[in-house]
Amino acid sequence: MKRTNGAMRTQVGIVGAGPAGLLLSHLLALRGIDSVVVENRSRAYCEARQRAGVLEDGSVRLLRESGLSGRLDREGLEHGGIYLQFDGERHHLDFRALTGGRTVTVYAQTEIVKDLIAQRLADGGVVHFDVSDTAVDRLTSDRPVLRYTDAGGSKHEITCDVIAGCDGFHGVCRPSIPADLSTVREREYPYAWLGILADVPPSTDELIYAHHRNGFALHSLRSLTVSRLYLQVDPDEAVDNWPDQRIWDELARRFELPGSGWELRQGPVLDRGITPMRSFVSAPMRYGRLFLAGDAAHIVPPTGAKGLNLAMADVDVLAPTLEALLKGDERLADSYSAACLGRVWRATHFSWWMTTMLHQTPGADAMEAELQLSQLRYVISSRAAATSLAENYTGYPARLAAAG
Ligand code: FAD
Ligand code: PHB
Repeated sequence: MKRTNGAMRTQVGIVGAGPAGLLLSHLLALRGIDSVVVENRSRAYCEARQRAGVLEDGSVRLLRESGLSGRLDREGLEHGGIYLQFDGERHHLDFRALTGGRTVTVYAQTEIVKDLIAQRLADGGVVHFDVSDTAVDRLTSDRPVLRYTDAGGSKHEITCDVIAGCDGFHGVCRPSIPADLSTVREREYPYAWLGILADVPPSTDELIYAHHRNGFALHSLRSLTVSRLYLQVDPDEAVDNWPDQRIWDELARRFELPGSGWELRQGPVLDRGITPMRSFVSAPMRYGRLFLAGDAAHIVPPTGAKGLNLAMADVDVLAPTLEALLKGDERLADSYSAACLGRVWRATHFSWWMTTMLHQTPGADAMEAELQLSQLRYVISSRAAATSLAENYTGYPARLAAAG
């Protein structure tokens, strides 16, 4: 960031220090492009917010190619498949065998955010935490502005060449696009996830996605000593209705495998929260000199583990797009939205499909129950169906080489 006579200037003003904003700032810095990130939460809050945990192989490659994978390579856990459980049986889907060797990596979003913040600060990057009153303006000019109030209460205005709206679903950037210029496609689901982080080694070697008459359950993990587990609950459920033992009892019921000797390990609950489920796509992802990336433009239900990966894929496209734009070439900017939305809609369909196949819909009849079971049986018995799940889960289209 440069100061000229008190006025602040940067090339790219970035709203939001989530994975999208921080990674974009880093990818721009690698291209010699100056940016300022403003974030309305504290650094500690951003680093502790419990969210996603599964990286597609393309996301891992992007972090590696951009020099961000030191800790990921040491601590990330490569997974070559998942279990699908239904009808009292657990079936393994072997992604390596189905996709010619592709895998996913368990590495928590909290750790990615910590790594990104540390790298930006070590490289002299500017990230302002604890700001308020963020606003973007003059978006159709070639000098858009970013305004905010800093943690000490002082107001600032930064003149930019471009603004990147990486401020998540509830941010200010998407609503600053005139409503008549956006098309929104949206679906709310009649259920939510109660998620816990537990200080106990995982009871499984691969994630378990369980379809059960009481509702869906997911066994994931954060490390070899910390488990992450989810239960389908009603969307208006209060977390206080779920004391620890009720959560563990319900998880044990939904993962139960009679006669197998398998047991769910229990431990202290470190964090808990309820997440609503929604599919949402707002298009186009560009308005003048404002470019949206990540949850600011699209949301998927977490069942396919796509949200974080989509955010990273967007900024993988956006960094070379902005590099070209700043050199006067608008062609990539003109195709940015379409370039991202192909992947976004594929992930939107996959997440919807996984969600509706695995959850209990309130009021569903026996017909729907049989259709779900038939789909699940098909996925575990047909190589073609299993391959489709595996190629979407590991990321479609596959990221083969660095963009741009
Ligand atoms: P965010 O991570 O939301 O970052 C946006 C940032 O902008 C935030 O730090 C926010 O504080 C900041 N911001 C907002 N408004 C302003 C403003 N006005 N001014 C300045 N800053 C602002 N995905 C999965 O794949 N698996 C999961 O299990 C999973 N679980 C999730 C659980 C929850 C509760 C949520 C909300 C999401 C979950 N997701 C999950 C989705 C995944 O975490 C997101 O897709 C991912 O965080 C997107 O990154 P992002 O940078 O686009 O947005
Ligand atoms: C997680 O570990 O938080 C997680 C994993 C897989 C999903 C969703 C969430 O599909």
